[in-house]
Amino acid sequence: MAGPREKWNSRLGFIMATVGSAIGLGNIWRFPTAVGQSGGGVFLFIYLLIILIIGIPLMIGELTIGRRGQSNIVNVFKKIKPTRPWWLIGVLGVVTGLIILSFYSVIAGWSLSYIYKFSSGLFRTAEAAQAEEIFSSFVSHPWLPLFWQMLFIILTAAIVIKGIRRGIEKASTTLMPLMFILLFLLLFRSLTLEGAVTGLWWFLKPDLSAVNLGIILGALGQVFFSLSLGMGAIITYGSYLSRDDNIPESSFIISSLDLGIAVLAGLIIIPAVFAFDLEPGTGPPLIFITLPLVFAAIPAGDLFGALFFLLLSIAALTSAISILEVVVATFKDIFQQTRKKSSVIAAFLVFLLGVPSSLSMGILDDFLLLGFPFLEFVDFLSAIILLPLIGLLTALFLGWVWTPEKSLVEIEQHGVRFKLWKPWSVILKYILPLALAYILISGIAA
Ligand code: TRP
Repeated sequence: MAGPREKWNSRLGFIMATVGSAIGLGNIWRFPTAVGQSGGGVFLFIYLLIILIIGIPLMIGELTIGRRGQSNIVNVFKKIKPTRPWWLIGVLGVVTGLIILSFYSVIAGWSLSYIYKFSSGLFRTAEAAQAEEIFSSFVSHPWLPLFWQMLFIILTAAIVIKGIRRGIEKASTTLMPLMFILLFLLLFRSLTLEGAVTGLWWFLKPDLSAVNLGIILGALGQVFFSLSLGMGAIITYGSYLSRDDNIPESSFIISSLDLGIAVLAGLIIIPAVFAFDLEPGTGPPLIFITLPLVFAAIPAGDLFGALFFLLLSIAALTSAISILEVVVATFKDIFQQTRKKSSVIAAFLVFLLGVPSSLSMGILDDFLLLGFPFLEFVDFLSAIILLPLIGLLTALFLGWVWTPEKSLVEIEQHGVRFKLWKPWSVILKYILPLALAYILISGIAA
């Protein structure tokens, strides 16, 4: 629909919305799980390196493309380079967004249901076997998880329908501070548990001899996933940015907050798991089976459990809106529909695509793709293959097609100085494409 493009109301609003996009299941569920599975501090160390070398430079690039193009992720590429099919990056982004949100909403739905389960005292006296039973009978139920998934998608769509300022920005500026408060409360609870220190060391101390390709791949996928890179969410949020924002500075703030919150989530979960002699490497059920045992064992555990899952659900919601917004902004322009209609259609598609992920924990658990249940397969496909692939194409576009010289003009409007432009352009032109191509190829080959 024509008319001037919507804009963020304030810089704080933009930062909150983008931090809200970045902080999500990726930080609180996926990150501690990955740390647990790959043996502690070494993962954190590699993760940090990749954020600096790949994450922040790419975020600067994506925000700049978005602000320059002032349009949805298909059109931004057409506007900057009309003669070549680079806009296909945008199409790939929309498809990836639908895939990511489809399984994201399944897990976010579990999280919502756990708020309810804890509030109703279900875990009060749970022992290991029961916690496992509660989880597996829930996720293998034929329709209950679908109900919670749908509820989550409806909440997400209800915010996106209201638009940038009244929907996304308002929801993010209200929910993010609440999330920070919950996080610090839980952190205090976890670190004051007896025996927490062992876990603390295990999490923070890198054992560099443990580095291997699997860890590097995992950390790379995690950086893309956690910083919302590689599928147009950051490009889309950048397209609502005003000309005087300092993009490099914002990227640095957003990435640091995202990293900080992932570390805090690790500090909540891992020491608690160690304090109760539980196993940190259980994979995806870490949060849904292991952690509830911790809550069952501490005073007022029901309350802390419910608060933890409230935190997780809020974090997931502000991320999900950024994914849905990419799809909605594109549908709305391309099919010339209202925001409302586009949101409803996109939400419906996400739900349909999510059904096999949800059922893969129950009825469809025999159906494996490359040896993975459907849900883990789509998670792997998007984080380890699609996001880095789109990241690679975006880096090539920034480094060789649009060129860092031209992006610099866009970045440095209104007297903003970009002092690290030289290293940034070297990273975009050489380091990023080579590193991503190498990691992708060796990852696919492995
Ligand atoms: N970053 C979010 C998280 O950590 C998820 C997310 C939101 C995302 N937007 C994205 C992931 C775009 C990949 C691409 O949970």
